[in-house]
Amino acid sequence: MARVEDAVAVLRRGGLVAFPTETVYGLGCDAENVDALRRLYSVKGRPRDHPVIVHVELPDALAEWSSDVSPAARALADACWPGPLTLVVPRRDRVPDEVTGGRDTVGLRVPDQPLALALLHEFGGGLAAPSANRFGRVSPTTADDVRADLGDDVDLVLDGGPCDVGLESTIVDCSGDEPAILRLGGVPVERIEAILGTSLAQRTDGEVAAPGTLSAHYAPAAQVVVADAGATAARAASLLASGSRVGVLATAPVPPKLPAGVVVLEPPADVDDYAHVLYARLREADERSLDVVIAVPPPPAGVGAAICDRLARAARGSAR
Ligand code: TXA
Ligand code: MG
Repeated sequence: MARVEDAVAVLRRGGLVAFPTETVYGLGCDAENVDALRRLYSVKGRPRDHPVIVHVELPDALAEWSSDVSPAARALADACWPGPLTLVVPRRDRVPDEVTGGRDTVGLRVPDQPLALALLHEFGGGLAAPSANRFGRVSPTTADDVRADLGDDVDLVLDGGPCDVGLESTIVDCSGDEPAILRLGGVPVERIEAILGTSLAQRTDGEVAAPGTLSAHYAPAAQVVVADAGATAARAASLLASGSRVGVLATAPVPPKLPAGVVVLEPPADVDDYAHVLYARLREADERSLDVVIAVPPPPAGVGAAICDRLARAARGSAR
């Protein structure tokens, strides 16, 4: 199995290393190596103006990568790092344009995953890493997902088992006068607002502010339909009648009176488990050649809000 030392050697010569984080697997390269960054973008199939997050080992690195750390950024870093939170802050000159898509801000985060932290420690620098999937596809939550999606285009995959959280980090823009949420994710908005003692604007549909929030993101090949538990059986019946292969994803207990022929994807036990398994279930839907997945969303509080966001995007994306 690939070891941290091998991964560091690959990074030092400008290669690409997929590594686990608590949210999803990242596809990493040296954040200060422009050639490596160009290859990263081409492997991802990602437009060059879409910024990537720089992963760092210690919260203190905030000031090493940002030219202006606001009190809000400091408070959030102190309270949430390591953890599933990305802070967008004014960048220092060491951050290449290839990382920021030419912006004057950079996204930073300290991941809460032992292998990721060991890798960052041994490497000693920052790792630019988007999620380790091709552009627009479902994010990987296991090393096998990464290999299935990227194949030989990634030089080395560190296997840390399934990701704990299963959804990407929450992104907070701390570069302006008022902090704002750019992407819902692993840290609930309620927690961020409690830390800052104020409510925050959500600019989660700003395709310019955070291109990773494009509506077509997070979509499997199967069409995703979001429905209440009470509407699921009737919806499934009409889809089956039109000849579709239909799956249902819902927290246990699954909706009653589902018609025969519906594939019940293994239900998450609770809302945290829903986040944990969501992307795996969407991938499974494709592996099982389902045409449609009817997803019953959790209540939109805490991490449930991020799940609802991803389901809505998957539903919009797959309706293209
Ligand atoms: O949980 C995560 O954040 C994972 C793991 C690997 O850390 N990474 C991830 O990266 O989800 P990616 O590239 O799939 O999404 C990064 C998001 C994009 O929406 C991007 O637009 C936004 O972060 N972002 C990065 N830097 C930014 C900046 N300077 N300004 C605005 N948005 C930024
Ligand atoms: Mg992504």
